[in-house]
Amino acid sequence: MAKQSSESAAAAVSEERLWNRHMEMAKIGATPKGGVNRQALSPEDAQARSLLVSWARELGFACAMDDIGSIYIRRPGTDADAAPVMTGSHTDSQPSGGRFDGIYGILAGLEALQAIEEAGIATRRPIEVVNWTNEEASRFGSGCMGSQVYTDPAKLDEMLAMKDLDGVSIAEALAETKAAMPEIAHRALKSPVAYFIEAHIEQGPELEATGNVIGVVTGIAGSRRFEIQVLGEDAHAGTTSRKRRKDAVRAATDMIRALFELMDDPDDTVRFTIGRFMVTPNALAVVPGHVLFTIDFRHAEEEVLTRLGDQIEAVCRRNAGPCKVTLTEIRRAPTKSFAGPVPDAILSVTERLGVPYMHIFSGAGHDARYMADHCETGMIFVPCEKGISHNEAENVKASDLAAGARVMADTLIALANR
Ligand code: GLV
Ligand code: MN
Ligand code: MN
Repeated sequence: MAKQSSESAAAAVSEERLWNRHMEMAKIGATPKGGVNRQALSPEDAQARSLLVSWARELGFACAMDDIGSIYIRRPGTDADAAPVMTGSHTDSQPSGGRFDGIYGILAGLEALQAIEEAGIATRRPIEVVNWTNEEASRFGSGCMGSQVYTDPAKLDEMLAMKDLDGVSIAEALAETKAAMPEIAHRALKSPVAYFIEAHIEQGPELEATGNVIGVVTGIAGSRRFEIQVLGEDAHAGTTSRKRRKDAVRAATDMIRALFELMDDPDDTVRFTIGRFMVTPNALAVVPGHVLFTIDFRHAEEEVLTRLGDQIEAVCRRNAGPCKVTLTEIRRAPTKSFAGPVPDAILSVTERLGVPYMHIFSGAGHDARYMADHCETGMIFVPCEKGISHNEAENVKASDLAAGARVMADTLIALANR
């Protein structure tokens, strides 16, 4: 008979099992350079979801899916009316993604669930492991889509209509993902969650540089994302004088030079990225008539996000020359601080287990940001080699993954017995 207890399941965490599951997952969408390409709602993402669900079911845990395709794996609690403690992250990746970004948060959660089960510990609250749909935004616009829709279902229709670069909508891609898993139960959006805790690799260099194994995350930097369309006119490269040209590449590069100047800060705290730049018709002898580029702009201070972000459109217009420019803000996500019961529980478990730790602020975005609007939330970081991430070379130590899963297991128990 299982015992309701606050005792530890950390000893039941298996470093080998956790590592092997990462390596199994890394085969799905594996790239020649050792990373993964498992973009949201692609056949590879569907395959990773199926593997996850098959592991969960083998362990006897029930699985469900919501209207945006996020998957929930549940271990029941002793109190049927209690809201769950939830953990998890994402199976989707960047096109040239690493083997640990996102999937670690899910597999650490599954390992923790299995360890708690094996330790025979009953908890008052159910514990759930979630796979949030489309965290990365590499294929479909917004990013952190699963947690955005979960916490604000009014966004569902707008998200379902979003299209990838091939014109495939989320609704269409989701229908295929769902068809691959016809027997899964339905899960309602916005149902109560007591606590959310997400484990992730740090994606920066600080834990490794300081010799710490756990980062107790204090918050996530705010971000603004834009899509800019520059409209000129296709023309002959040999016969069209400079005066007659409406060259979208020339206009876009003038804009970009001015934007980098605007964003160049002496403190090096602004994160400004133009990650997508697409020229049409992309032909050697045609003055290009169209450019699309994206901006990913992040900072910890809302004042900076507003002051600099609000100048982007004017800078683009000033540098458009004879071209037209349209700017769409795809998403604005506020800076979020984590404090209270979740980081407190992570801290006390980490101290009890004797794992070296530091407090750390996240420059990377995570679904925990949106969950923090819904319930008490916190995050655990583990080191990654040289801070390399969003890169196929992303690497970690198996022992660090296991340390994070031990902290996760005991933190889940502590929160699930509140
Ligand atoms: C998440 O992957 C991010 O871009 O921060
Ligand atoms: Mn991630
Ligand atoms: Mn990522």
